Amino acid sequence: MSNYFTQKNAQLHAENVALTDIAAQFSTPCYVYSRAALTDAYQQFSQALQGREHLICYAVKANGNLAVLNVLARLGAGFDIVSGGELQRVLAAGGDAQKIVFSGVGKSTDDMRMALEANILCFNVESAPELDRLNAVAASMGKTAAISLRVNPDVDAKTHPYISTGLKQNKFGVAYTDAIALYRHARSLKNLRITGMDCHIGSQLTETSPFIAAVEKVLLLVDQLAAEGIVLTHLDLGGGLGICYDDETPPAISDYIAALLKALAGRTHKLILEPGRVLVGNAGVLLTKVEYIKHGEEKNFAIVDAAMNDLMRPALYDAYHRILPVVQNPHPNPLPEGEGTVEKSNCLIFDVVGPICETGDFIGRNRSLTITENSLLAVMSAGAYGMSMSSNYNARGRAAEVIVDGDTVQLVRARETFAHLIAGETLLP
Ligand code: LLP
Repeated sequence: MSNYFTQKNAQLHAENVALTDIAAQFSTPCYVYSRAALTDAYQQFSQALQGREHLICYAVKANGNLAVLNVLARLGAGFDIVSGGELQRVLAAGGDAQKIVFSGVGKSTDDMRMALEANILCFNVESAPELDRLNAVAASMGKTAAISLRVNPDVDAKTHPYISTGLKQNKFGVAYTDAIALYRHARSLKNLRITGMDCHIGSQLTETSPFIAAVEKVLLLVDQLAAEGIVLTHLDLGGGLGICYDDETPPAISDYIAALLKALAGRTHKLILEPGRVLVGNAGVLLTKVEYIKHGEEKNFAIVDAAMNDLMRPALYDAYHRILPVVQNPHPNPLPEGEGTVEKSNCLIFDVVGPICETGDFIGRNRSLTITENSLLAVMSAGAYGMSMSSNYNARGRAAEVIVDGDTVQLVRARETFAHLIAGETLLP
């Protein structure tokens, strides 16, 4: 378990605040983040990178809550964005435009214009037509766009196929074999300024070797470019470091950085990284309440008030999240002696499911839990790609979000109401 979500007096706490108190005050479902956990993860990166020119560009897509972004901005973080919306979030949260890199395969003209207007640090360009479009947009504004080409190093990240991005068959980046020609082309475009090279091979990686294989391939290109007089000032090695959801053993942040720095020995480029999940994943839980216990013919169901619209990862990737009772064994109800074992008395195996009308609407399957109606459960490791991938499916308002800081809790996003759900909709005349 994370150091910031711990059991105290048989109750699960976020830092010093009992999750039961948060449920009482803000109701459920509710995302609960720990400021200290966020800060700790960020500082592990910055400490490991001390002495090296670097920029940690948090991948906003993992969790774009303004307060989360603000906590990271205040720590000095930069940001990796993939849309004009994310750009506006970062700026609204007090982020520094000069610390923003803009990734993504489908940047629209409007997105480019907005980012040029804001004067971001660098566009991570992913295709030949994007280079030409960016050059034209910059020219029309009388500006020069700083660019990096995202190269696809064709290495296997050994993660879920939906979140692998660095293989030939993936849509991301420019083909490794085309990269040099595209840099030459970029050099000929008047309104572009080449500053770096980037790659991102996938997410939830639990080994360092694929990262190192990617760095080595990137460095081969960097040297070929230098030989042609195209000298880069930064290398952006993307995000992707995994976290422990169940029994995975990803490298520690310090070990991951040490391995990268070793592979970069003798290189003086500024190092940019784009971590998402590893900064926020274990800094958040989704707090939910059991609405009904239902005993089916083959299965027991804990029907909870959170659903796939709140946390899509189990439905989408068959992802595993630990599910912990917020109050330890609240209803021990031991059977009289000789009539069974205490632990079997009301501890059953449940599928934890939401109220949505889809068989795929589950949060966890085959979980051993001691619960009754109204029990509170914490879905762990939900800080990354939880709220940010939520939807309004089944006309469900999105959950509330709170941040705990020591003994205090602050609401950082109010639960959505019906007014939010229908904002922008109109009836026909
Ligand atoms: N940089 C780029 C260009 C990316 O595409 C991503 C994630 C990141 C950085 C951050 O990666 P991280 O450090 O978080 O692994 N929804 C999926 C994850 C999708 C990741 C997409 N790109 C999930 O819930 O597992």
